[in-house]
Amino acid sequence: MKGFNVEEIRKDFPTLMQKVNGKPLVYLDNAATTHKPISVLNAMQDYYEKFNANPNRGAHFLGVSATELYENARERVRQFINAKSAREIIFTRNATESLNLIAYSYGMKFIDEGDEIVVLISEHHSNIVPWQKIAHMKKAILKYIYLNHEYRLDMEEVQTKITDRTKIVSLAQMSNVLGTIFPVKEIAEYAHSKGAIAIVDGAQSVPHMKVDVQDLNTDFLVFSGHKMLGPMGIGVLYGKKELLEKMPPFLMGGDMIEYVEEQTTTFAELPRKFEAGTPNVEGAVGLKAAIDYIEEIGFENINEQEMELTAYALERLREMPHVKIYGPIDLKDRGGVITFSLEGCHPHDVSTIVDTCGVALRAGHHCAQPLMKYLKAPATSRISFYFYNTKEEVDIFIDSLKRVRKWLGYES
Ligand SMILES: Cc1ncc(COP(=O)(O)O)c(C=O)c1O
Repeated sequence: MKGFNVEEIRKDFPTLMQKVNGKPLVYLDNAATTHKPISVLNAMQDYYEKFNANPNRGAHFLGVSATELYENARERVRQFINAKSAREIIFTRNATESLNLIAYSYGMKFIDEGDEIVVLISEHHSNIVPWQKIAHMKKAILKYIYLNHEYRLDMEEVQTKITDRTKIVSLAQMSNVLGTIFPVKEIAEYAHSKGAIAIVDGAQSVPHMKVDVQDLNTDFLVFSGHKMLGPMGIGVLYGKKELLEKMPPFLMGGDMIEYVEEQTTTFAELPRKFEAGTPNVEGAVGLKAAIDYIEEIGFENINEQEMELTAYALERLREMPHVKIYGPIDLKDRGGVITFSLEGCHPHDVSTIVDTCGVALRAGHHCAQPLMKYLKAPATSRISFYFYNTKEEVDIFIDSLKRVRKWLGYES
């Protein structure tokens, strides 16, 4: 891999350098959140030390500087996802808030009784619960596209579920449970052919692969900064300008207005119409530094490293008796998330026992209870990679997993 040295890269991440329970930390919970390189931490500290102020208000030096930093971050996000205009980039707290914004603003205005909203059964709760609420309030119908036995989509199922009554199709580009990468471009095209809009939840894809909103021709894209080396509390909503312009504001207050009279208000232009109150400048600055870091590493290197780790981990897990993997085995169109169960062992026991070896993995329903029910898997364990993980870490994880059943009293 050109210029890619994982040991050197790891030195940029102070959190990864620590010991946990007396053992070097093996962090395999990157689908939940990623760690932050020093450049991101420094960018945020620098902002507070030199420029801290409310953007878009006050003409003093600090206020102007904060506005510049905030808008530079917006422009950096625009380039990163190839949006046509920086006005199409709205800063939110996270992917969840971005989805809520679309649901409440677009959904409340454009969804009517009997309309259909279509999601995948594998969606994260943040792409289900807001739609349940809108469907309930508007007497609309929330429909699910189910997956095949390989944890992938059949286009026939997609074509059965998306109909002339469908108004919204909302799906994750990559499942946070199965690791499946879904063909969002084809689905967006099909949704458009039926007169629906397409929303892509990029929470698990944007950190790992090049996502180009113009190429996908998606109407909206949402993602969170913290899953891509940035800080918590900053997220992105991309929306096509012509749609955002038709949508009412979501939150009301300072910064999002043009004129306020005693009884009425006119709203600011995009993107400020959707950014009420003092924004998270520190978060935007950190997100910009995170994008700089990711682009310096390069998506080709990121993908190569993650796929090598995924192939190796799948191979080692499949050698183990008592392990069941939930997700595609074939590496094609899958990412570095592997969910599994260990027969006879509760996932919380698994995670507690491997933690004694310094291994951090995720246990539970992964915020996807409808999927768990569909898979008849009450709860599972999950490992998830980022480019800073190593094969040695996979070995430590496998060794720690081998202890679990013995620890719980099984003979093998
Ligand atoms: C696919 C997917 N969508 C949405 C989210 C929600 O992200 P956040 O909690 O940052 O809003 C997650 C978080 O795990 C996710 O994996």
